[in-house]
Amino acid sequence: MIFPDYRPRRLRQNNSFRRMIRENVLSTNDLILPLFVKSGKDEKKPIPSMPDQFQMSVDNIVKEVKKAHNLGIPAVVLFGIPDKKDPLATSAYAKNGIVQKAVKELKNKVPEIIVITDVCLCQYTDHGHCGVVDGHTIDNDASLDILARIALSHAQAGADMVAPSDMMDGRVAEIRQTLDENDYHNTPIMSYAVKYCSAFYGPFRDAVHSAPQFSDRRTYQMDPANSLEAIREAAMDVEEGADIIMVKPALPYLDIICRIRDEVDLPVAAYNVSGEYAMVKAAEKKGWIDGKKVMMETLISIKRAGADMILTYFAIDAAKEIQG
Ligand code: PBG
Repeated sequence: MIFPDYRPRRLRQNNSFRRMIRENVLSTNDLILPLFVKSGKDEKKPIPSMPDQFQMSVDNIVKEVKKAHNLGIPAVVLFGIPDKKDPLATSAYAKNGIVQKAVKELKNKVPEIIVITDVCLCQYTDHGHCGVVDGHTIDNDASLDILARIALSHAQAGADMVAPSDMMDGRVAEIRQTLDENDYHNTPIMSYAVKYCSAFYGPFRDAVHSAPQFSDRRTYQMDPANSLEAIREAAMDVEEGADIIMVKPALPYLDIICRIRDEVDLPVAAYNVSGEYAMVKAAEKKGWIDGKKVMMETLISIKRAGADMILTYFAIDAAKEIQG
């Protein structure tokens, strides 16, 4: 394979050749749209650090989900913005909580789309941590029961899949057991198994007002310097009964997606997070990059790394690009 006998450019000379040798494709089947749901009627509040993303009341969420469904997007993931917070996140598992209401309405109005719910405490706690706190420590085992209650309340509302994002040890097993005991054996768990302690979540914490009120999330989310630990985290969640393993964030952790794809035989999801989205939007606005092209290149890079599905705020725009 030495020049001039081999010339890689031969198979790049026109679009048909390029299509023939293309190794990866992005399909609308790969996309999952994250949405932020709040109380009220006809609310659509822009999120300043996430251009074109909104906090929406349930009626507008339904409209957005119809749009996604019509574009062929198979699934959405819901994040709730509750009216009140407390130390134990009680509004997260309230029967009439904001996510529970949204799920019911969506399963009523757009039953075909898969509704995934984020299971965590941080949006619902006044201290902003993903577990319950004891002084200034995050109490792992005391959080498990609450996480399982949240997951069960989502399943009871009709959620098709639950996605715990808290990073407490042992929560997948606890959630699986609670779902099974209540006859929800068919509700899969998409585990945020490999979740790094990342500054790329900044805009999301603005969007849902979930920034921790003291210290940070380093005692439960992973150190960005580690990759062997990612394999241990994923293996644990597989053992505990996860159905899909997620890596998050995506772009700064493509190597991790690739390793997890090799190590695990479950479907792998990657979360193209708020900071990844905001950077593209900001540079596009400045005229420094072609936002659409960077979006598509980012998404194909995540697929190439090995993700089977991508949670992305670009889902609607990418689906439109794919449709042409
Ligand atoms: C926490 C949660 C976070 C995100 C999803 N679920 C933020 C965090 O851990 O602080 C981040 C999503 C994003 O940045 O787009 N439950």
